[in-house]
Amino acid sequence: MAGVPVAAPPPVDTVAVVFAESAVGRSVRLRGWVEKTRHSGGLLFLLMRDRTGSVQVAVRRDALGAESFELATTLQVEGALELTGTVHADPRAPGGREVRATSVHVVDAGLPFPIFRDQTEEFRLDKRHLVIRSHEHVATFRVKAELLAAFRRFLDAEDVLETTPPILTGNPAEGGAEAFQFDYFGRPGYLSQTAQLYLEAMLVPNERVYSLTPSFRAEKSRTPRHLTEYLHLEVELAWCDLEQMNEFIERMIATVVAEVAERRPKELAVLGRAPDELTALKPPFPRISYSDALDRLRGKGFDLEWGADLRTAEEAALTMEERAPIFVTRFPRELKAFYMLQSPGDPRTVEAADLLAPEGYGEIVGASCRETSVEKLIERLKAIGADPAEYDWYLDLRRHGSVPHAGFGIGVERVLRWMLRREHIRETTPFPRTPSRHTP
Ligand code: 4AD
Ligand code: MG
Repeated sequence: MAGVPVAAPPPVDTVAVVFAESAVGRSVRLRGWVEKTRHSGGLLFLLMRDRTGSVQVAVRRDALGAESFELATTLQVEGALELTGTVHADPRAPGGREVRATSVHVVDAGLPFPIFRDQTEEFRLDKRHLVIRSHEHVATFRVKAELLAAFRRFLDAEDVLETTPPILTGNPAEGGAEAFQFDYFGRPGYLSQTAQLYLEAMLVPNERVYSLTPSFRAEKSRTPRHLTEYLHLEVELAWCDLEQMNEFIERMIATVVAEVAERRPKELAVLGRAPDELTALKPPFPRISYSDALDRLRGKGFDLEWGADLRTAEEAALTMEERAPIFVTRFPRELKAFYMLQSPGDPRTVEAADLLAPEGYGEIVGASCRETSVEKLIERLKAIGADPAEYDWYLDLRRHGSVPHAGFGIGVERVLRWMLRREHIRETTPFPRTPSRHTP
């Protein structure tokens, strides 16, 4: 059907345009949301935000006419509007620019916005869908997007292939107790804790593979670094030993952290993080064996038996004075997952490494060489109370062209928490999943 011809509206501008050098005197058309309003007499000031930033808008009854002006005064915080206006230089306005409105169209005036300063954390988590409009959250999730892009660029340049493993699985891979189990048409199903077993299958014939998927952990631990759903970047490399893998990990972490810092200085400034501390990060990172870590901890007053796990307090003691992450390597076999390679020189340990972030932020990467012997895998599965028959498909991988290989998993939110020095990991994800909440 032929429409009635109408004059096209002027193209939409962004707030960033208002702050361009040559913008003074220009007329602009903006769309966005209200951050603040101030109304007195025939003058209404709005602080208006779009995806590129915020700008002060002056709305005058004289300029708009009484009816339009009264409508504009109904705009609440987070109300939505579209306007046309002209750009003026004004030293009193934030950033030295003000838009003087020539027309205002109220898209949705909004109800009074329920978020204020000093509300309880519980209330803020209940209203998370509104709270995430804050400058801090916007900056955090832009840094997160940059971090994901940087990881992908790095892996692409290293010729590592992105793959898409399943989330619904029939085997818990990182300890059954911490897997979310559900009814899969009458059989037990598990939400993926790791893509690793599938990556090991995809390794042949691609040799270098990765995936970026959510992982799920039914850990009851309420700590500032545990989520029950987190984003897991996992890499699997053929023909790779522990030292080669650690070199890959440190190069990757240093590269992506520096790139993010270089590309997102404004967001880091909002979050109070100096970019130069992140760009200064250079490999190699220090390496220390588990056994040497115990000795070092004894010197700091922690008396651990050989075989004890490093908990938050011990990890913090090891890294508090560090500026860069450190690798802790060769853990006791009993502490670690069934698939890890027994150390060639020491049957008590496995070829594994945890990368601990500096300043007490804890483990950000878990890595290991994989056991290639079917017999040893079966022995370890039995030792943890699993039924080897249920892992038979995985054992097949060791029966058909098994080669030395290694891999690691990075907790994306853990990296972000350290990079942005957030107190709690939930601040690094828009809708955090923890034992006490899975809504909104
Ligand atoms: O050390 P993890 O359990 O190792 C694995 O799952 C291996 N299968 C990965 C692999 O080799 N492909 O987990 C890897 C990383 C940890 O170092 C940590 O950064 C993160 O995942 N992580 C969590 N992040 C947030 N909340 C949790 N509950 C996490 N559990 C692990
Ligand atoms: Mg781990």
